[in-house]
Amino acid sequence: MIQAARREFAPAKLNLTLHVTGRRADGYHLLDSLVVFLDVGDVVTLTPGPLSLGIRGPFAAGLDAGPDNLCLRAARLAGREAAITLEKRLPVASGIGGGSADAAAVLRALDAPATGIQTLGADLPVCFAGRHSRMRGLGEILDPLPAMPQLHLVLVNPGHGLSTPSVFRALAHRDNPAMPDPLPEWPDMAALIGFLHDCRNDLEAPAIALMPEIATCLAALRGADAQLARMSGSGATCFGLFADADQARMAAADLAVAHPGWWVTSSGLAPAKG
Ligand code: C5P
Repeated sequence: MIQAARREFAPAKLNLTLHVTGRRADGYHLLDSLVVFLDVGDVVTLTPGPLSLGIRGPFAAGLDAGPDNLCLRAARLAGREAAITLEKRLPVASGIGGGSADAAAVLRALDAPATGIQTLGADLPVCFAGRHSRMRGLGEILDPLPAMPQLHLVLVNPGHGLSTPSVFRALAHRDNPAMPDPLPEWPDMAALIGFLHDCRNDLEAPAIALMPEIATCLAALRGADAQLARMSGSGATCFGLFADADQARMAAADLAVAHPGWWVTSSGLAPAKG
């Protein structure tokens, strides 16, 4: 059992790019993705006590607190007992890491080693490290990114979850080009945006085929003058990149009014980790 209470932020992860570069014999896909962490996220709190999980917060209703919950699976993997409270601020099954970010935060709070954590999900290693990274393989090959300019983002989620396996199943082309290696430098925002425009999220088209409202989210972000609009992960959350923080805040406010059923928030990057 843990000795003292711990509070750990579980930042949202965002796939600025997500190239699907192949498929292994076991059906898992090889990825090449730029993953960054945001200043919005869930919060996990651990206090001494037998293993338990309570969920509260705006998206608590969408999540089962049963034994299969990734927070409980993470604690069992670490072999530690704690009373866990999850403050669910991010929409569930939304392509911005939620479950993986929460499990990684539990593991960090328990000072657990990284051994075996990928059994909990492909995004566990990158979420556990919590560093802006280029992520390859099934998610286990991580290279820290060169310094990133501050990003001014708006996140938009149409209000429904999307199942990751069904999006991968709907993918038409599984052998797509990787990003350049090594990655170029991004001396400023214009260079980064230019690079991102040359990249893709290969899961965007199959996700739109399953949930056409994602295309509406992307069009709304572009209509709000985003310099780039793209889906994150296997969706359905989309992001827009804006020129500065004020433009992002104003765009988020306008989109929230125009689409009351959507989850909309402005966001920046989490502070860089050493
Ligand atoms: O690991 P995670 O829980 O995110 O994966 C959910 C599902 O997405 C997997 O069971 C698999 O069907 C699919 N997936 C995949 N290739 C990956 C990651 C996930 O096919 N690299």
